Amino acid sequence: MLRVNRTAVLALLIVSSSVFLLFQLHYYRKYVSKHPGSHILRPAGHLTPGHLTASQVQWQVVKKFLALVQHFKLPLFLTDTAVLALLSQDALRQRDRLVREPHCSFLCTGRAVTSFALQANQWKYDPGFLLAAEQKGFEVMELRGVDPRLASLDTLSGEDIPLHFLFRLHSHVIQVVFLYERSGNYLWHGALRLKGDADRSFAAFKVLDYGRYAGAYDRPQLILTVLDGLDVRVPRNISRFLAQQKHARFLECRYRDARNFLQLYPDDSSAAAVDFRRKAKALLHLTAQTLARLDVPFWLSSGTCLGWFRQCSIISYSRDVDIGIFITDYRPDIIAAFTDAGLTLKHKFGKVEDSLELSFLIEDVKLDVFFFYDNGDIMWNGGTQAKSGRKFKYIFPRFSLCWAELLELKVRVPCETLDYVTANYGTSWNIPLRVWDWKSSPSNVQENGVWPVAEWAELIQVY
Ligand SMILES: *[C@@H]1O[C@H](CO)[C@@H](O)[C@H](O)[C@H]1NC(C)=O
Repeated sequence: MLRVNRTAVLALLIVSSSVFLLFQLHYYRKYVSKHPGSHILRPAGHLTPGHLTASQVQWQVVKKFLALVQHFKLPLFLTDTAVLALLSQDALRQRDRLVREPHCSFLCTGRAVTSFALQANQWKYDPGFLLAAEQKGFEVMELRGVDPRLASLDTLSGEDIPLHFLFRLHSHVIQVVFLYERSGNYLWHGALRLKGDADRSFAAFKVLDYGRYAGAYDRPQLILTVLDGLDVRVPRNISRFLAQQKHARFLECRYRDARNFLQLYPDDSSAAAVDFRRKAKALLHLTAQTLARLDVPFWLSSGTCLGWFRQCSIISYSRDVDIGIFITDYRPDIIAAFTDAGLTLKHKFGKVEDSLELSFLIEDVKLDVFFFYDNGDIMWNGGTQAKSGRKFKYIFPRFSLCWAELLELKVRVPCETLDYVTANYGTSWNIPLRVWDWKSSPSNVQENGVWPVAEWAELIQVY
């Protein structure tokens, strides 16, 4: 009797709980369909397997990805800033003989992205790779853009090339940045731009290490290493690579505008102009080599900057090459380095504390080196009139430095180039001016007193 009752109660319980479960399911489906944004159980969502932490997922996804990379022989290396930072610190930690974590020390930063770079000239595009990735469960996004290597003053339209791959698995994204060789003997990657119909939630685009802007890099030396049990190539000098990564932003020349400018004001093709451009190019390359050896960064200033910005070349009637250097990067051996390179010092005005300016000569081309002072709100460089001792000040809005290419050379320019050029040349910078007085023509020149006569011998040196 008792047993029958028990069975009946059990059956009743099973029936009622099933009904309740069905009700819950039904209600839940209604809830989800009403709140499509809710991702608790979204069918297309990417739940991380419950028993793994984000860091463990990262390691597993990277492992799966590297297996594919090896199979397809992709010339890939690790560029992830978080992992590389851990690696460079690790070199220090090991020196200090501190104990490392046993299982995963690097490829488990807990970030939602791990980034790699692909040396595009060493890989023949293989769609089979993407297919294989999809078969392994990765969702793939390929971002393309115009090939800037084909753009020039003569041709504007480039063909589309792959710029970035994104692979997503279990909410972890692997970014692969394509690095292309450019004619200035450096590596370039494009900006990551989503087309109109792209899935904007595919990755946390704002936190990607690469793609906010285009970038330029020296070709790094790579070494093969084992990270957390996985074979991966990394830059040999990690701190150098990370330092470059921070200031890698690259500006493409405005070829379209330059072409319009040159249609209005055709380039001087006289023998003298051609000769000057050849010499200016050689001087610019020599300058870059010399300052690179001293580790002193410089940028294109005044007329040379205007030439790049306005016409993607050298202004043939400018007769000189102008560069800027931050006074904080000044080194006393700069003069010796230039004279060793075959230049002669023509004048030295001012002092490190105020309005320093150097001028060199090689053949009949002048190199003007302007030192820039940071005043908080503004940046400025000084000028000196030799015969009168009068001082001048040229004021610029604050700027940062970007990479650009001029005459097959990777050089820096102010990122805010338009503001810089406008400060210097006014809003009509787009109209050539052959007559130019450095003391009065610039829009940003100010009188700045006179050097005391007693100091002229020291502060106004003309050779
Ligand atoms: C790595 O690069 C930095 C910066 O360029 C340099 O100072 C350092 O000597 C390099 N280290 C090695 C081991 O080459």
